[in-house]
Amino acid sequence: MSVTGGEIKRVTTHVLHAMKERGEKIAMLTAYDFSMARILDEAGIDVLLVGDSASNVMAGHETTLPITLDQMIYHGQSVVRAVHRSMVVVDMPFGSYQSNSEIALKSAIKIMKESGAHAVKLEGGAEVEDSIRKILQAGIPVMGHLGLTPQSIYKFGTYTVRAKEDAEAEKLLEDARLLDQLGCFAIVLEKIPAQLAKTVSESIDVPTIGIGAGPDTDGQVLVTHDMLGITKDFNPRFLRRYAELFQVIGEATQHYIADVKDHKFPDKTEQY
Ligand code: KIV
Repeated sequence: MSVTGGEIKRVTTHVLHAMKERGEKIAMLTAYDFSMARILDEAGIDVLLVGDSASNVMAGHETTLPITLDQMIYHGQSVVRAVHRSMVVVDMPFGSYQSNSEIALKSAIKIMKESGAHAVKLEGGAEVEDSIRKILQAGIPVMGHLGLTPQSIYKFGTYTVRAKEDAEAEKLLEDARLLDQLGCFAIVLEKIPAQLAKTVSESIDVPTIGIGAGPDTDGQVLVTHDMLGITKDFNPRFLRRYAELFQVIGEATQHYIADVKDHKFPDKTEQY
């Protein structure tokens, strides 16, 4: 963790840019609530993404589509209250930026004002150019998101690897160059071939942050609940589980239940 003279140095867009320049990888994870964000921030994570994956992970929806702007702001506020060092990026939910750039700007301003986050993320390339331009003009940092874009799941029909064919790969590279030129401060590359992610990362100035995009992006992101093994039945090839918390929490809960039933909790030291 970068601590100078006892003061914690906050991660900013400039810090991320400098990390790319000196070849230091960026570590990003999702967070949706105060308690988890506090653990991840204290552990030294660079960026916390308040992802619209909250729709799946926190609310149990099948897709990211149902989550609302106000719900994203609620999650964003909870995360912002917890962090001292990490940069907090809030996902713009489906419907909050696609229809026109005025609506996009209004949504982004609402997120920044009400959540206290440091940046927004939105999905897509040339299709959302006007929205990105408008948000950036207002001084709001924007993180792009290309490749598998879960808000378009009903257009694509599956969550399989994107941009395997030349035409889609070329379009993705063009979109990445466009987002770079527009002034996005970073771009998430989700579930694309590793070689394409490498080419994109070498072709643009801003950092790329990969998920299922191989080792050559400038950073990596995972959904925290997947990385910690809290989600149970999600096992894509790109996921590495660093803990098995579904099992750990389940066993602790069974232990607690048994203690209560057996009159073992609370004991004499656990009462007044
Ligand atoms: O919503 C999310 O969690 C994301 C990451 C998978 C990048 O967009």
